[in-house]
Amino acid sequence: MSARQAAAPAPADLRRVLGRFLTGVTVLTAVDDGDVHGMTANSFTSVSLEPPLVLVCLDPGARTAAAVERSRRVTISVLGAGHAATALRFARRGGPRYPGPPPVPGADPPAVPDALAELRCTVEEVVVAGDHHVVLCRVRSAKARAGSPLGFFEGRFCDVVARDTPPVPPWY
Ligand SMILES: Cc1cc2nc3c(=O)[nH]c(=O)nc-3n(C[C@H](O)[C@H](O)[C@H](O)COP(=O)(O)O)c2cc1C
Repeated sequence: MSARQAAAPAPADLRRVLGRFLTGVTVLTAVDDGDVHGMTANSFTSVSLEPPLVLVCLDPGARTAAAVERSRRVTISVLGAGHAATALRFARRGGPRYPGPPPVPGADPPAVPDALAELRCTVEEVVVAGDHHVVLCRVRSAKARAGSPLGFFEGRFCDVVARDTPPVPPWY
């Protein structure tokens, strides 16, 4: 390492710095061995419109991550402003499994009720990247509902308010 190169950040420092990047919040659900598993994830990112691809970065130690990778299917629910308690519940490691009736064999994993968006996906590819797995998902169906999103910033849930300006054209 040259004398002018800064040292790599310690994990706790990097987490604090990355926390300055505002994200939305999702819950991922997957069915494995007859059980529905669910976890909160803010690493969700759109990747491609044609073909329709999104990704999430998952800790391979999470039960839901294992269920996603084994079943190759995942439902992604984008949470609304009123879903902070849901986000906390699905972030508790080893917490209760997804409540509700047992999954119908062959059906998609259930979405969170009243989610702002629901994406039903199949797993296309899993890339091991450091201490996480990048899970590339092909979107088979998608629907959205009006409402305000739940945000996550500096380790806290937050409200996100759209400015009263014209929408930016889809340049990208
Ligand atoms: C706001 C928020 C975002 C999170 N994002 C992720 C994520 O993107 N990837 C991940 O692996 N864990 C993420 N987590 C942690 C998981 O939700 C947590 O480890 C969960 O308990 C895993 O549950 P399971 O092991 O029962 O499946 C996040 C937690 C919170 C509160």
